Amino acid sequence: MKLDDRVALVTGGGSGIGRAICLAFAEEGARVVVNDTRLEEAERTVKALSDPARGRAIQADVADSGQVKAMFTTVERELGGLDILVNNAGIAVGADEDREGLRRKFEARIMEAVSGQGIQTHLDVTENLSDAAWRRMLAVHLDGTFFCTREALRLMSRRNRGAIINLSSVAALMGLESAPHYSAAKGGILAFTRAVAREVASRGIRVNAIAPGFIDTPMTQPMSPLMRAAALSRTPLGRWGEPREVAATALFLASDDGSFFTGQWLSPNGGLFTG
Ligand SMILES: NC(=O)c1ccc[n+]([C@@H]2O[C@H](COP(=O)([O-])OP(=O)(O)OC[C@H]3O[C@@H](n4cnc5c(N)ncnc54)[C@H](O)[C@@H]3O)[C@@H](O)[C@H]2O)c1
Repeated sequence: MKLDDRVALVTGGGSGIGRAICLAFAEEGARVVVNDTRLEEAERTVKALSDPARGRAIQADVADSGQVKAMFTTVERELGGLDILVNNAGIAVGADEDREGLRRKFEARIMEAVSGQGIQTHLDVTENLSDAAWRRMLAVHLDGTFFCTREALRLMSRRNRGAIINLSSVAALMGLESAPHYSAAKGGILAFTRAVAREVASRGIRVNAIAPGFIDTPMTQPMSPLMRAAALSRTPLGRWGEPREVAATALFLASDDGSFFTGQWLSPNGGLFTG
């Protein structure tokens, strides 16, 4: 098996892409630590693993460095080290954001665009974004990726081997007009990936990113039918990606199949972005 007895930690493993990665890694023989802020969802993932006895759920908010440190201490104590980290935990919108208002504007713009009258509805996301929404978005994605990477490197450096995979997004490559804070966080993750990959290559640790397109998960379910149709119309393969297709990319990068990849991003996106 591709990940025989390797220890993997997947953040945000209680849902969507993270859950699919946990299942794929376990299928290939890994012992999987499933992190999430929602313990019951992390436990649900553990129960779904091919061998639940080799899984472990740990509740922690990756945006909190104290909780992250405690989680890695538990991993070291119980599993003796770490071979693979997947920084996957993420959010699409903050608590105080007007998701419904944005949906209305987005749909109005689509109708204006197809009617050929020119776009008159302005999104005005950035000018209305609160400090709290901006900070939480960067905290979960960028702080979380840094906090977990720092702790993982402390464990991986002892053995001079390991693989780290960071979930970025096509939002980093193209810019997502409805989510400047999300796009900034995902762009920061790409730059961080490149820098750390160069830094730790001499230790035999590889660091790569995945930048998915539109994937059918609980994160994208709140999109309205019109928004989903607009997303599809921009995706040449004409369908949504499935979490298992992103998991296959993560498995490639985590295993020896991806042994000459570091500092790269792979983008399972159905042709949405081809740069
Ligand atoms: N779904 C897509 O279309 C898509 C596209 C590109 C990138 N991504 C990225 O892929 C990753 C997974 O997305 P998904 O679609 O599976 O989302 P999801 O909402 O289905 O799952 C995200 C999981 O992360 C957990 N989480 C959120 N904040 C956390 C925190 N602070 N600490 C620990 N866990 C936390 C949630 O509880 C949830 O279980 C995210 O980083 C997302 O930005 C998703």
